[in-house]
Amino acid sequence: MRIIIERDAGAVALRAAARVADLIHRSPACVLGLPTGRTPLALYRELELVRKHREEGLSFSRVVAFNLDEYVGLHPHHPQSYTAYIRRNLFDHVDIDAANTHVLNGRAEDLQLACDAYEEAIRDAGGIDLQILGIGSNGHIGFNEPGSSLGSRTRVKTLTRETIEANAPSTEDPRELPRVALTMGVGTILEAKSCLLLALGEGKAPAIRDTVEGPLAAQVPASALQLHRDVTILVDEAAASRLQRHEYYREMEAARQRLEAGAGVPAEEG
Ligand code: F6R
Repeated sequence: MRIIIERDAGAVALRAAARVADLIHRSPACVLGLPTGRTPLALYRELELVRKHREEGLSFSRVVAFNLDEYVGLHPHHPQSYTAYIRRNLFDHVDIDAANTHVLNGRAEDLQLACDAYEEAIRDAGGIDLQILGIGSNGHIGFNEPGSSLGSRTRVKTLTRETIEANAPSTEDPRELPRVALTMGVGTILEAKSCLLLALGEGKAPAIRDTVEGPLAAQVPASALQLHRDVTILVDEAAASRLQRHEYYREMEAARQRLEAGAGVPAEEG
């Protein structure tokens, strides 16, 4: 795992945007996996990716996107749906082709069939090149709540009370938020070629500690990322505050930067 600790949320967004932009420059038809929630807001509309599109000509015209999850039962135009979120915060502001954007259909008549078709669409696209993730304070990724199988695939998942409460402040009427969602599985996420997990604030510190330094456990679905060979955990100081090997991660990152600046020395992996 590569652990990058930045000063604050702004620096995390800048770093994440640089990573996405670099991938798009190298591979204009890349496949991105996208999270919603508060954490990536600065990466999307409030700050970097949209600015890079407008001011630096970063083009999403050939980029393919798959969102991680969606509530069951919400109309895509419902302001709390993740379809509406990603349009509002990213798709409506860049030149992405609507035909290349994918969000799970939480209103499908047969939800599991819709999930299976999503898996197939990801495969047909050649797999996800970069899966961006947030993390719940209970260690969930996507809506894979504690206890999710670490091999799970895209499916229906019942949300925990803490997740509903955590998401409630973002809605005018929390009672409107469904208790059930569709989510890519942990196994689906692990198939991405690389993963970039973002976390901000002290509330995420225990989950980040358990993800990075805890045992592999279904009770902390994000800990499954320990099995992936190309994962970056990009956090602010507050989210890193419970990491025991804090100093070592900083030294490792500094050494990596020196190596990358040096002539052709391969960077340390994982
Ligand atoms: C949402 C998602 C969730 C969130 C997580 C953190 O698409 O995948 O796992 O990333 O609940 O949410 P925030 O960023 O609002 O703290």
